[in-house]
Amino acid sequence: MQHQKVLVLDFGGQYNQLIARRVREQGVFCDLMPSEMSIEKIKEYDPIGIIFTGGPSSVYEKDSPQIDKAVFGLGIPVLGICYGCHLTAHLLGGKVESAVASEYGKTEVKYTRSPLTKDMPEKAVCWMSHTDKITKLPDGFSVIAESDNCPFAAFGDDKRKVYGVQFHPEVNHTQYGTQLLRNFLYEVCGAVGDWTMSNFVHNQIETLKEKLGNKKVLCAMSGGVDSAVAATLIHKAVGDNLTCVFVDHGLLRKYEADEVMSVFKDGLGMNLIKADAGEVFLNKLKGVTDPERKRKIIGEEFIRAFETESKKIGKVDFLVQGTIYPDVIESGKGKSAVIKSHHNVGGLPSVVDFKEIIEPLRDLFKDEVRKVGFELGLPKSVVMRQPFPGPGLAIRIMGEVTEEKLETLRDSDYILRTEIAKAGLDEEIWQYFTVITDSKTVGVQGDFRTYENVIAIRAVTSLDAMTADWARIPYDVLEIISNRIVNEVKHANRIVYDITSKPPATIEWE
Ligand code: XMP
Repeated sequence: MQHQKVLVLDFGGQYNQLIARRVREQGVFCDLMPSEMSIEKIKEYDPIGIIFTGGPSSVYEKDSPQIDKAVFGLGIPVLGICYGCHLTAHLLGGKVESAVASEYGKTEVKYTRSPLTKDMPEKAVCWMSHTDKITKLPDGFSVIAESDNCPFAAFGDDKRKVYGVQFHPEVNHTQYGTQLLRNFLYEVCGAVGDWTMSNFVHNQIETLKEKLGNKKVLCAMSGGVDSAVAATLIHKAVGDNLTCVFVDHGLLRKYEADEVMSVFKDGLGMNLIKADAGEVFLNKLKGVTDPERKRKIIGEEFIRAFETESKKIGKVDFLVQGTIYPDVIESGKGKSAVIKSHHNVGGLPSVVDFKEIIEPLRDLFKDEVRKVGFELGLPKSVVMRQPFPGPGLAIRIMGEVTEEKLETLRDSDYILRTEIAKAGLDEEIWQYFTVITDSKTVGVQGDFRTYENVIAIRAVTSLDAMTADWARIPYDVLEIISNRIVNEVKHANRIVYDITSKPPATIEWE
């Protein structure tokens, strides 16, 4: 079944993916495509509406990204946001000029009645971020919103169904921004809201059944959300013809390997092979202290372990990759996906004998992948799992990785995770874990002197791991965590809290 589609044309603004996510959250499928897309391609794509994103350029600059004016003659509704609204005004005969004062941040706007402002109050705060402004509207357009500094904060022509907004409806700071986008989709474009994750699951399973038939499929399962959801979808379509290989490198968190086996093998009845390679990895890591060498060794060994298992299976028809939509956009704006460079999946294709790669999640944003996970009945611990690096705990142990240090790390990390969940902070903190520093300090426990490891707590908030801030865990929660770790965990006698943002630090310590 085909669903309705909206086209989001990318003019290089920082919120572009956010616009696409907001549209999808309203139950309408959309794709983010480069602004250079030709009119023929746009027609072929057959969208119910087009959104021009913001961007850093000025429309009157020589090399600024443009679009063929014919786009307004296709009979498809258009919404221009920020740069997109300047471009709309500019191409249709309005005037855009550099403003004397830039306008950044929260601004109050007054709305006029229009299909775009249905169910919105007369006044609301919105988020502005622009230097240029429109000084004359094109013929046929009327004002929909104005602010003190910006007489044409939003405008439109209901007949042609072309609209522009100077502010950013996609950001949280814009009150009723979501409502405005929803109005564009439902009141202007005639959306029916057919993009739901239950539809997706249903359609995807049918499509996969048809495509895969009774061919053999192989999947590298890491325990991470993407591979777990991809494998579960495929399992629903082909059952036992899917084989999953899970390499346990011995660097996972407490109970993690058992949980993967219990959810996917015992619970879902998947054909899941666990490669117990912990000893091999630990041997290879003996004496290694350099972080990059650790990563390299783990990456190579991972591929080797996977290769050994997959050779036992023999030739397969399809290899599953957990590629998601942001990977597709970043790797060439929707043209073709590069296989993820993460060590635990990158590099696999060359060692596996397969005919084709299959990527069932390549149309989905991360939050949609999670919804699909829930839709498929996966537990919260899998679906909401925090990001975990391929090299695992090895890069959270400074210096040499030993069995003893792994145990200390696992136990302390488990306490941290338990207490963060108990305090109800597990969904607002992006990542939280403990690290074994390579410092030992003196302590006193009972009447005895101790000389043990310093454990660091690392907890960050982030949107995409590119930048991060240290999480403000309340002191009383930190107190419980600290007390529990020094009392319950062997070889730990001091706890410190990492209060560094990224940049200049990174999230992981190595
Ligand atoms: P950093 O430490 O660079 O981490 O700020 C950014 C995010 O990436 C995760 N990370 C990895 N993920 N393979 C992965 O799959 C890796 O080698 C790897 N190294 C770091 C890290 O946990 C954080 O979420």
